[in-house]
Amino acid sequence: MKKYFEFKKGIFSKPQYIRAVDGVSFSVNKGTTLGVVGESGSGKTTLGLTILRLIEPTSGIILFNGRDIMHLNRDELKWFRRSTGIVFQDPYSSLNPRMRVKEILERPLKIHTDYDEKTRSEIIVKTLEEVGLSEEHLMRYPHELSGGQQQRVAIARAIILKPLLVVLDEPTSSLDVSVQAQILNLLLDLQSKHELTYIFITHDLLTARHISDYIMVMYAGKVVEYSTTREVFTNTKHPYTLSLLSSIPIPDPKLKSRRRIEITGEPPSPLNPPKGCRFHPRCPYAIEMCKLKEPELLEYSKEHFVACHRASELDFTELLKDITSFFA
Ligand SMILES: Nc1ncnc2c1ncn2[C@@H]1O[C@H](COP(=O)(O)OP(=O)(O)OP(=O)(O)O)[C@@H](O)[C@H]1O
Ligand code: SF4
Ligand SMILES: [Mg+2]
Repeated sequence: MKKYFEFKKGIFSKPQYIRAVDGVSFSVNKGTTLGVVGESGSGKTTLGLTILRLIEPTSGIILFNGRDIMHLNRDELKWFRRSTGIVFQDPYSSLNPRMRVKEILERPLKIHTDYDEKTRSEIIVKTLEEVGLSEEHLMRYPHELSGGQQQRVAIARAIILKPLLVVLDEPTSSLDVSVQAQILNLLLDLQSKHELTYIFITHDLLTARHISDYIMVMYAGKVVEYSTTREVFTNTKHPYTLSLLSSIPIPDPKLKSRRRIEITGEPPSPLNPPKGCRFHPRCPYAIEMCKLKEPELLEYSKEHFVACHRASELDFTELLKDITSFFA
């Protein structure tokens, strides 16, 4: 799947394309969590929005429960909307400030079901309890709730129709550290209770490890590594993933002695990404071929996909022990 945004410097200038998502291919199994990780601007949010058809892809195919979601009729699209949900980073701006919690949660029920008012109220209260709130929060406006409570309401709204798939776009990043773990654990509880499937977007590998069964690392609109969480952490194959692991901050004086993979420079411009491997200007392992030929995402070992010309030759075993021992 690709998603390019058209960009024009002036009315008469030729359009250029921001290659936000530039040919990614993956699948997510029912009841599992795929963590999508990468730096700012790597295309994570664009990917999440496109999968839910909140923005249209430039090309590619998106299958949901075996159905091509680009070719749904009106009823099918309604079914798709009902079967999917999204939670954004900033709960306050994702909740209508003029609506009370009750109205916020009632809306999807009114749009997608013909339940009477009594049934709707029962579902709302039950869902509120499931996310750790209660009837006492029903008549409050978003500004009368804490950040953590607001995010609980946003989660309640996303799951109230018992969707199959929920995209969670940095759902804990704007919250207090003390609340982050509570929200992550809530998401895990809800997942096992309702067999939810998550696509969990984050720039934080440790958060991804806590919640994900699989991790997909993105760089400049491309997938560079994709495997089970365990494999990504213990048998890292891509130099970019390694650099992300090595930059995880650890509040420990021993940190000073930790070997790090330093990558310098900024992520590339999505308007004009580098030829060859997009990571080559920053990669400490780059060779001549990396400047010329783009590496394909290949199955390096079972369920472990890597896009690097040197994947079978580079061995990070010793380095990884040193890098990950601090948070193993
Ligand atoms: N509507 C849009 N119009 C034009 N460009 C866009 C649009 N949305 C995103 N982009 C560009 O696409 C690229 C990917 O953006 P995206 O928001 O998907 O990244 P991200 O990985 O979610 O970043 P962050 O971690 O900062 O949220 C960026 O260069 C961004 O500027
Ligand atoms: S293909 Fe080359 S530049 Fe890209 S990650 Fe691998 S070694 Fe580094
Ligand atoms: Mg984003």
